[in-house]
Amino acid sequence: MTTIVTMPGDGIGKTVLPEAVKVLKASGFKADYVHADIGWDFWCKEGNALPQRTIDLLEKHKIGLFGAITSKPKDAAAKELEPSLRDKGFVYFSPIVGLRQLFNLDLCIRPCKSFKGNPLNFIRRSGNGFEEPMVDTVIFRQNTEGLYAGVEWTNPPKQVRDALETHPKMKAFKEVPGEDLAVSTRIMSRNACRRIIREAFEYAKKFGYSNVTVCEKPNVLRETSGMMLKEAKLIAREYPGIQLWDTNIDAQMMWLTKNPEIYGVIVAENMFGDIISDGFAGLIGGLGFACSANIGENVSIFEPTHGSAPKYQELNPSIVNPIAMILSACMMLDHLGENTRADKIRTAIAKVVEDGKVKTYDMMKLKGGPDVFAKGACTTQEMTDEIIKNL
Ligand code: NAI
Ligand code: MG
Repeated sequence: MTTIVTMPGDGIGKTVLPEAVKVLKASGFKADYVHADIGWDFWCKEGNALPQRTIDLLEKHKIGLFGAITSKPKDAAAKELEPSLRDKGFVYFSPIVGLRQLFNLDLCIRPCKSFKGNPLNFIRRSGNGFEEPMVDTVIFRQNTEGLYAGVEWTNPPKQVRDALETHPKMKAFKEVPGEDLAVSTRIMSRNACRRIIREAFEYAKKFGYSNVTVCEKPNVLRETSGMMLKEAKLIAREYPGIQLWDTNIDAQMMWLTKNPEIYGVIVAENMFGDIISDGFAGLIGGLGFACSANIGENVSIFEPTHGSAPKYQELNPSIVNPIAMILSACMMLDHLGENTRADKIRTAIAKVVEDGKVKTYDMMKLKGGPDVFAKGACTTQEMTDEIIKNL
């Protein structure tokens, strides 16, 4: 039997993850669930937000379901360490970023699909009225390299500065003192580009999308974006039924509200993928609906895009929307070859959204707080129950 490593993490991660497990069980999916520690509590108590025992569990079982964690800047984090651990050289790093790097979870998949009748759907003026385009776009974000790879300095060491100065464009920075010079690099490898592009095409083929768009900026970032586009053109030849489009990230953001419904699969580097996936998520309901998968060769982790929403963690009953977490669990089912079951859950969600009777506060465009129930919002648990009822 499959074993799922469940990592609720912090804040509302602890609220929404059990809701997704309830739905998985109600769908008839048979699995064992094993809890793993991750997040802020373990940073404070142990000086490590990603304990080795959690890494071991993931190594063993390969499939993780993750809620959300709370992250804070290095200095703020150091102050919250248990007194006995302070000044012992513990440095905070985000455990989800850590997991992506440790297990080389290089493919990040973020489907952004509108549910009919969702009051948060993007609408557009048309003639004398409005139209509501149904968005169905899947973002493939390279998850380990590029601008977020972490190769950066303020006051770069001498060898680095010397090496940089072999580039003619560094002349412009010649007189800048080291401590006033910050450098963040965008490093991409051909293999990683090939892998994300190929997976994007494979996904398009499997799920019937007619186009794959490389969203980069090759006219300016000639080396890194250039490599992505070049590799995409080569790989596209193997998929004659699927069109390859390329857009620039800035223009793509502008077109987001013009014709988002024409885009099938979009593939991009780490930071650009981060930006476009948030952009598209905004068209289909925002953080309450945005799900994701982090896929590596051996280990895969499924998580909602949202964070721990600390301002809502204490509310009881809880107000937050569990749908993003439940859709992430559906992506896990897809990954495990349980597509029929995943579709069954997505159909149930679609029915609840279209019926429009049970809505979390975000779906009513309310400001979050304990008063949302009096205004007609449902609790997190009521939303789950309604989805289960419609299975
Ligand atoms: P956030 O995603 O936690 O919350 C932003 C706002 O979005 C919330 O205040 C709420 O209004 C809304 N929201 C989020 N999830 C929702 C849901 N399920 N239903 C309804 N509304 C929802 O982002 P924020 O406030 O920037 O960060 C809070 C903490 O989460 C920080 O410590 C941050 O580092 C961490 N974070 C963790 C992530 C992860 O675990 N992958 C991702 C993003 C942030
Ligand atoms: Mg983001």
